[in-house]
Amino acid sequence: VGNEVPNVDVFEGAPDKKVNLREATQSGKFVIFGVPGAFTPGCSKTHLPGYVKMADTLKGKGVSEIFCLSVNDPFVMAAWGENQEATGKVRMMADTCGEFTKAAGLELDLSAVLGSVRCKRFSMLVEDGKVSKMLVEPDGTGLTCSLAENLF
Ligand code: BEZ
Repeated sequence: VGNEVPNVDVFEGAPDKKVNLREATQSGKFVIFGVPGAFTPGCSKTHLPGYVKMADTLKGKGVSEIFCLSVNDPFVMAAWGENQEATGKVRMMADTCGEFTKAAGLELDLSAVLGSVRCKRFSMLVEDGKVSKMLVEPDGTGLTCSLAENLF
């Protein structure tokens, strides 16, 4: 909390569609939440659907955009967003090489279950480029503090 958002590019929809999350969150209020993996049961049944359902409520509280981030490739993230009817509500960001995850200190080695180092489950409120609230699941994958209803 208090730090700037990592100055890192992530990808939206395709490997050539870069989004720099520091630039994208420079002015106004934003939510970034991170998940261990696209299409995993907890992320698909609870975490992402919660943000999709609460998108209008969060936007009513002044949030301009909601970003979902995972260490996955951009095509998988786009397909997951379509599958979850997230279009227009939650933007699906691929942290393809885990650079954002590393810079934010959120790495979690899930090699044994998902094949690689992934991102801990978290939610972050960003105001004018600075992290104003940071909720990281204590065990890295649980579904407690980082759920949409706990952000405000
Ligand atoms: C999940 O269901 O969200 C999950 C499954 C395996 C590893 C991490 C998360």
